[in-house]
Amino acid sequence: MIGRLNHVAIAVPDLAAASALYRGTLGAEISEPLDLPEHGVTTVFVTLPNTKLELLHPLGEGSPIAGFLTKNPAGGIHHLCYEVEDIAAARDRLVAEGARVLGDGEPRTGAHGKPVIFLHPKDFCGTLVELEQV
Ligand code: CO
Repeated sequence: MIGRLNHVAIAVPDLAAASALYRGTLGAEISEPLDLPEHGVTTVFVTLPNTKLELLHPLGEGSPIAGFLTKNPAGGIHHLCYEVEDIAAARDRLVAEGARVLGDGEPRTGAHGKPVIFLHPKDFCGTLVELEQV
């Protein structure tokens, strides 16, 4: 069911420093910071030949990654995103398999303007999983 790895998201305590690290030290192509108020994050996209990274930094009060950074002050891998062809069909299948979809279970518009859902990390080897319809 899952397809390509769409991106790896890394929560970072200092977005400018992380951007400099990826652009300078690692020599990657990166985007300008993009505020996503609906998701409570500012993100910088790192484009690699075979996938993307998203550097995530909290935006505003109650950001969903604020707690993660409290527990991981140096930053860390926050989630993996896999592509699916049909997000509703994927969700229904996962719920039938007993997996927990975060939130109300309805797909939301993700960072790339496409529908996404998030799956409970305890159901997926301790990893927060995002599915994105492409
Ligand atoms: Co993501």
